[in-house]
Amino acid sequence: MSFKKLVFSGVQPTGNLHLGNYLGAIRKFVALQEQSDCIYCVVDMHAITMWQEPAELEKSTREVTAAFLASGIDPKAHIVFNQSRVMQHAELAWVFNCVARMGWLNKMTQFKDKAGKDRENASVGLFAYPNLMAADILVYRATHVPVGDDQKQHLELTREIAQKFNHDYSDRIRDLGAGVEMKSGEETVHGFFPITEPVIEGEATRVMSLRDGTKKMSKSDPSDLSRINLTDDADTIAKKIRKAKTDPQPLPSETEGLKERPDADNLVGIYAALAETTREDVLSQFGGQQFSVFKPALADLAVDKLAPIASEMRRISADQAYVDAVLKDGGERASALAEATMKDVRRIIGWLGN
Ligand code: AMP
Ligand code: TRP
Repeated sequence: MSFKKLVFSGVQPTGNLHLGNYLGAIRKFVALQEQSDCIYCVVDMHAITMWQEPAELEKSTREVTAAFLASGIDPKAHIVFNQSRVMQHAELAWVFNCVARMGWLNKMTQFKDKAGKDRENASVGLFAYPNLMAADILVYRATHVPVGDDQKQHLELTREIAQKFNHDYSDRIRDLGAGVEMKSGEETVHGFFPITEPVIEGEATRVMSLRDGTKKMSKSDPSDLSRINLTDDADTIAKKIRKAKTDPQPLPSETEGLKERPDADNLVGIYAALAETTREDVLSQFGGQQFSVFKPALADLAVDKLAPIASEMRRISADQAYVDAVLKDGGERASALAEATMKDVRRIIGWLGN
């Protein structure tokens, strides 16, 4: 036996869902549901590692859910829910707090970025965040995790945690017959948790700010012009692309010519991702052209692809009872799966009562 392919991913309900979230994550969630069972989670427990106004958190949780549904995720064939409904995430995160080492977490760049200079004042939750993320994935024994490039390091840590748990408890896992044979490179190994594969691919694994091609497009950038929000209407999308930072050169004909030109590279990457093609292809069409030609074409394409999602989000969001029912039903199905894993985990560890 080997692990069955299962996809898991999460998005934080922290407002301002943007084009990077869509191209780097949500659109991949949609594509993967054709081939595999998928679980998509609105991670409201991760959200409170930084202060969130409660009413805003509720609103954003529903908004991310609406974005999932508007983008084409099928909540009946798959599972869509908010994390805090399934308390097994917190339970397994505690176990992982005791598996992961301080030294591992001390290397996490996202903590350093988010905590900033005042590290003493960051929440303990923000530091332990990657352990909760590992728990999200492994409580379902998920094998594949689609994310943007910024989550690579966290997924490495998830793999390390799975490996250490499998190793530390290997005798017990065998005695209880709870493990599974799996491939690890050339070798076949035995363990309880899979060594999860990140799915980070395509032309838009790291969408950059429209105001500064060296900075990631982010929910928390104070400038709204830096990002295209999934709720932006057609005029706003077109305006933001028109105002996007560029350089005075025409577009190159080869991708080589995009090196050292982060703003141009970003816009070409966005075009390629939206058109579901490659940077090479886009440059074979637009090489030698000025941005005065390329930007309107990009704006048309972006409006074409994104405006229908925004209007579908508005339609779905108007029916709050439906959104809440999706989360409740998903939460119930997720709980049953998570509890089955935790029954084994508790026995493996030696916690009485199961
Ligand atoms: P977050 O908003 O941090 O919860 O991110 C949700 C998903 O979107 C994660 O898979 C991120 O890696 C992805 N993501 C966030 N920002 C970007 C970006 N600028 N480009 C590509 N993917 C992104
Ligand atoms: N840390 C991810 C982010 O900020 C969100 C997340 C939480 C996640 N748990 C996850 C992503 C599990 C993938 C799998 O984007």
